[in-house]
Amino acid sequence: MSPSATTPRLIRACRKETLDRPPVWLMRQAGRYMPEYRAIREKVGFLELCKSPDLAAEVSLQPYHAFGMDGVIMFSDILIPPEAMGMEVVFGDGGPSFPNPIQCAADVDRLIIPDPVEKTGFVMDVLRKLRSELASSPDTALIGFAGSPWTLATYMIEGGGSRHFAKIKGMMYEAPDVLHRLLGKLAKTVTLYLNAQIEAGAQVVQLFDTWGGILSEEEYRRFILPYHQQIISNLSHDQAPVILYVNNSRGLLPLMAEAGPDVISVDPLTSISNARDIVGSRFALQGNLDSTALFCPPEVLKPMVQSLLREGGNQGYIFNLGHGILPPTPVENVRLLVNLVKESALAHTP
Ligand code: CP3
Repeated sequence: MSPSATTPRLIRACRKETLDRPPVWLMRQAGRYMPEYRAIREKVGFLELCKSPDLAAEVSLQPYHAFGMDGVIMFSDILIPPEAMGMEVVFGDGGPSFPNPIQCAADVDRLIIPDPVEKTGFVMDVLRKLRSELASSPDTALIGFAGSPWTLATYMIEGGGSRHFAKIKGMMYEAPDVLHRLLGKLAKTVTLYLNAQIEAGAQVVQLFDTWGGILSEEEYRRFILPYHQQIISNLSHDQAPVILYVNNSRGLLPLMAEAGPDVISVDPLTSISNARDIVGSRFALQGNLDSTALFCPPEVLKPMVQSLLREGGNQGYIFNLGHGILPPTPVENVRLLVNLVKESALAHTP
């Protein structure tokens, strides 16, 4: 058997091998749009779910069992490491919140850089369980992830989700040293955390920078890029390729390329072909169907998926959404999407 025959399709796409079809997985593929997930959430709180390896592994596998994606992303949340650093985090109906947000240098100094195994061993347990569950499906990749320092800092400073990001921007303008100190601690935390995930069995890792797109290119170069570079250069790419996702990345794609990931995950605002022209052929691309396309009737959704399949091609391309799947998404459309990608292998067969 050739070595690539035992390497999951998703990993082969990250490495830009030519395939009979692209791999498919969806950001936030486990979650509230699935009745199986809602049934578990009726019984356990969100954080408790993240910290119960058996349940978290079960939830991670729900979309895989229902639709057969080529990747299983571990069930967890980007806000687990900030909690391990010493912050209280609460997941309520209105989304996550931090009752005691970071306001000054002393707050930053109080944060620890947690040993990922000691403080977040439950995450590593989820990964190990998933690897053993997937042992009989060697073509399916196990995906680990973390939030980027900037995105984590927005929640830690704003105290939760935000519309205007006035607090973190205020710190960026008035006390950039304090913000850099926080981002530096987060970068160390995230590096250790992702390497521990790789050690525990993650075969590819994605860095989520959901709020990277609120900065100008100049600000991004100062407050985001160095930390992406620091993290990405300290991960073992040989063991696990790195996917970088920035939402609202229009204009930022060249800076994403400078961070040196293996895969650039493109949001819905830039076409895959334009992104390829901008970043060049060195990177595999992932994306970028608009999440709301999944609300359309099948006769509208189908040509959108097919057109993206043609655009992405079968080398260095991973089919995904441009952002996370939304809770009201009809499950039948998710099934249709995954099936269309899988059937595209027939179209590529000579
Ligand atoms: O299936 C998967 O992709 C794995 C699980 C996953 C979750 N969150 C589960 C979750 C992943 C990869 C994340 C990442 C995450 N979390 C991001 C980056 C990705 C993105 O969407 O931009 C962000 C910004 C967060 C922070 C977060 N967690 C928010 C803003 C919220 C509330 C709003 C929302 O989308 O639900 C959460 C809670 C959360 N994380 C839920 C899930 C399934 C819903 C919790 C519930 O069951 O009530």
